[in-house]
Amino acid sequence: MTDGLHKLLARSAERPCALARSELAALLAVEDGTELQALFDAAYALKVKYCGKRVAIRGLVEAGNVCAKDCLYCGIRRSNGKVTRYRLSADEIVRLAELNAKQGYASLVIQSGEIESEEQTRFVEDVLRRIAPLDLGVTLSLGEQTEEVYRRWKDAGASRYLLRIETSNPDLYTTLHPANHSWERRVECLRALRRCGYQVGTGVMCGLPGQTYDDLAHDIEFYDKMDVDMIGMGPFIPHPDTPLATSCQSLATNHQALILGLKMIAVTRLYLHDVNIAAATALQALAPDGRERGVRAGANVVMPNITDVKYRRSYQLYAGKPCLDENAGLCKRCLERRLASIGETVDYGHRGDSLHYRRRMCASASIPGGGER
Ligand code: 5AD
Ligand code: FES
Repeated sequence: MTDGLHKLLARSAERPCALARSELAALLAVEDGTELQALFDAAYALKVKYCGKRVAIRGLVEAGNVCAKDCLYCGIRRSNGKVTRYRLSADEIVRLAELNAKQGYASLVIQSGEIESEEQTRFVEDVLRRIAPLDLGVTLSLGEQTEEVYRRWKDAGASRYLLRIETSNPDLYTTLHPANHSWERRVECLRALRRCGYQVGTGVMCGLPGQTYDDLAHDIEFYDKMDVDMIGMGPFIPHPDTPLATSCQSLATNHQALILGLKMIAVTRLYLHDVNIAAATALQALAPDGRERGVRAGANVVMPNITDVKYRRSYQLYAGKPCLDENAGLCKRCLERRLASIGETVDYGHRGDSLHYRRRMCASASIPGGGER
């Protein structure tokens, strides 16, 4: 390992945000096998320091694939006529939340395509009120909404919200979305979520056509600037029925895409230290052990899919989605086995709040210690 890399890793482990943009980009550009391992090891050591050898689990409910948006990369975009559209009923979601609690998972993520309507707002409120007695940490990932809607869902029981910025470069964002999608509105939504008191998560796709290491380094600085609590990011994987799939022929192999995704996790951990970072399912689409490798590169959250198998094929954001035929029970055992193989255990019974969020709350309220883990 070069002396320069050794020094960068040592400095980034000492304190958060210790690296300049060019240094973040240099870490992201590492390719040599020994150097890559040193990068992943340094990030994993920080993950273990802040989160222990435990992985926080959230059961993922894919609540519907009806989407008003038309992102050029996404398999469930409005214009993709090949998708069979579905929306789970409130009863179905409540049943999955109960199943989630029964599995010992103390947190749940409800994700769907973006719909902005009073009907959708009320529907989600109703679901949240009905699952409140289960006392789960509930994350919503339902896209851009008004601050009033975010507030209503918070009041109804949601505590976390994930809204990926997709890229922190507004020009690159423009090339990935139709003209009526607004990067600025997405940033404003992240601010609104913070004002409402959520634990806020964001993230990007990496390996996008036209994206540079400098863009990715800027993404990591963006996470810091927005002071987010959770990061969910993953490799871009072309979906054959989307406009972007045709324009990215020359892009990376699965292996290269996976390594870039892992490097993003590692460098983000080295820069931010105490945030929750998810090992995205997209990593598993690129390699069967992709999620474990994400944990070994610094991630501390995994989100197994608990949606009924019959709907999973209709919620394909990218090609090669894993676990299309495994039910939640199989996913649970498979996950335990996979995590055990890298010396990690599932953190059953804990919501797995972001340490960054708990510190933020303690600092603002001057409460020593701080809440449930
Ligand atoms: N490849 C990887 N990730 C994708 N997403 C959507 N389409 C793709 C794709 N082709 C991600 C976006 C979105 C999240 C729900 O899924 O980042 O925010
Ligand atoms: Fe649904 Fe992008 S296509 S949010």
